[in-house]
Amino acid sequence: MSICVKNWCLAIVALTYWAGEAAARPDMDAGRREFNQTCRSCHSLKHGEVLQGPSLAGVIGRRAGSLEEFNYSDSMQNSSIIWTDETLNTYLASPFMMVGSGIDMNAHGVRDDEDRTNLIEYLKHAL
Ligand code: HEC
Repeated sequence: MSICVKNWCLAIVALTYWAGEAAARPDMDAGRREFNQTCRSCHSLKHGEVLQGPSLAGVIGRRAGSLEEFNYSDSMQNSSIIWTDETLNTYLASPFMMVGSGIDMNAHGVRDDEDRTNLIEYLKHAL
């Protein structure tokens, strides 16, 4: 009986640990899948390649609306956002809320927190 109780406790500890690890580490492969599904139709990850939206190669650290080759909306160009983990996270949760209704990005954003974390991790590494 006591062994049984101990085993049960151990199982809980292991599970909590595993769940904590999974939450702490962004999953790049999941991020890649999310990008392919939700963003790739409009955004390339090759420098200089313009699709419906601007290339997202090297987007982390860049000023919003700053690529010469892309014709941004005034709202995006005047937003003075710098793309970091935090600003991308806010933007992707709700693009219109952050930059205003003047933007040309006709997409709904990514609602799930974990999906956004994974996606941003992928953008950081997909260069
Ligand atoms: C329907 C096409 C479309 C989809 C889908 C789309 N975007 Fe965009 N995106 C755009 C357009 C167009 C712009 C330029 C907006 C403007 O100038 O107002 C843009 C702008 C951006 C910018 C700002 C880039 C810069 O150079 O300042 C980021 C970051 C971005 N998108 C990320 C994403 C991510 C991540 C996804 C997937 C979750 C996504 N977008 C999905 C069309 C799209």
